Amino acid sequence: MPEKVAANTINRGMLITFEGPEGSGKTTQIKLLQQFFAEKGKEVIITREPGGTVAGDKIRSVLLDKENGNLEPETELFLMLAQRTEHLKKVIEPAVRAGKIVLCDRYFDSSMAYQGFGRGLDPALITQTHQSFLCGFLPDYTILLLIEPEQGLERARHGGRKQLDRMESQALDFHRKVFMGYKKLAESEPDRFLPIEAAGDPSSISAQIHNELNSRMRGN
Ligand code: TYD
Repeated sequence: MPEKVAANTINRGMLITFEGPEGSGKTTQIKLLQQFFAEKGKEVIITREPGGTVAGDKIRSVLLDKENGNLEPETELFLMLAQRTEHLKKVIEPAVRAGKIVLCDRYFDSSMAYQGFGRGLDPALITQTHQSFLCGFLPDYTILLLIEPEQGLERARHGGRKQLDRMESQALDFHRKVFMGYKKLAESEPDRFLPIEAAGDPSSISAQIHNELNSRMRGN
């Protein structure tokens, strides 16, 4: 795992990432956590990957467009890294340094789970590139919303009303590997990860996230 480089430097804010398989309810929980921090008078920004910048959003369309079929795993990784470089340097890092709380929908761990565990690229290589190009900048906390792949994909389909994108349309076996990968990542870094069962009611999941964050932040 990369060293936590950016943490605890100067009057910094905080990076909290949300991770999980498809349909894990990240968007809802991010909005609820934004309210939680706003009520404490904190300045919060919400952003996402792939995306978060103009160029990053264009890279996102390439990654999610079904017309692009099966991209090589390395191509996927390089595109993810390219959008992350823009996003980290232009959005995340400046905001954290300005004392803001950044809530980010997916980040480095998605590359580990999807391109590493899912596609079979060497996790050590992904970690190494993250170290080399992104100074190993890791989140302060990562909220991992865990939902079984079958259930998550069903949610992502919104009862058949939504067309699945290129990543969501991958075989179930791929999504199972991603899910198992996330569990392994959480086990390997228990101080950073907050694994939460995400199948239940959004307000009770949100209460769990708030309680867990409150107690961890008091401990720091
Ligand atoms: P997602 O946030 O799930 O988009 P949406 O909520 O609109 O479906 O992310 C898009 C997809 O990109 C998702 O399938 C996960 C994938 N992804 C990777 O494979 N690697 C990465 O490094 C990132 C950031 C995302």
